[in-house]
Formats: sequence, C-alpha cells, structure tokens
Amino acid sequence: MVEQEPAAPAIKSVLICINRRFHGDQPSCAARGSEALADALEAGVRDRNIDVKVERIKCLGQCTKGPSVRFAPGGRFHLGTTDAHIPALLDELEAICGTRDEDPGPPLHLLGS
Ligand code: FES
Repeated sequence: MVEQEPAAPAIKSVLICINRRFHGDQPSCAARGSEALADALEAGVRDRNIDVKVERIKCLGQCTKGPSVRFAPGGRFHLGTTDAHIPALLDELEAICGTRDEDPGPPLHLLGS
C-alpha cells in the first residue's frame, strides 16, 4: 500500500501584519508602511472578487524582515513586501483561491468587534 501525503490545506486568508512596536527604534511592519499595503490588498481582493479574507494582524514573528504577509492556513511568508509586490500577490491569490460571485462586504477591520 502506498501512503499518500496529506493534501495542503486550502488557503482561506491572507494575513498582513500591521503591528507597530512600542519602541520606535525597533523594526515593525507598520513603521515600514504595511497599513497602506493592507489597504491595497483589501482593495485588490474586493475589486477582483478574490475568494479570500484579508486579515490585519499584530505580528507574524518576522519583524526584522517585514512588511510581513502570509497566506493561511500554512502558507509561505512573503517578506519585505512593497507596493510593487501587490499585483503579483493578488495574481497568486486569485490563482489559488479563485473568485466569488457575491460582494464580500466591508473589510474585516471595519466591522468592529
Ligand atoms: S511587526 Fe510585523 S512581523 Fe512583527
């Protein structure tokens, strides 16, 4: 009998760190412009109806290499992300996750808790 490797989990979210560390001299994603990158990712996902959630989170443990982005669950990191990377990230997300027909609604961070 041949054992098969378990299938990789389907990507459901793209995580982007918007953490700003307490001490301004410590590297952080927000200090490197990740909030604007999150805005661009959300706009791109919305405009292209990509079937993925954009989640703004506080730290992916890669503070010296940010802005940090990760596909989840279990996807690889995209580090040192810039505006120039957004179109390729959106292309990759669309290829992996596909598109949806309905309007995804407002970004999660605007829904409140
Ligand atoms: S501050 Fe973004 S990974 Fe830690």
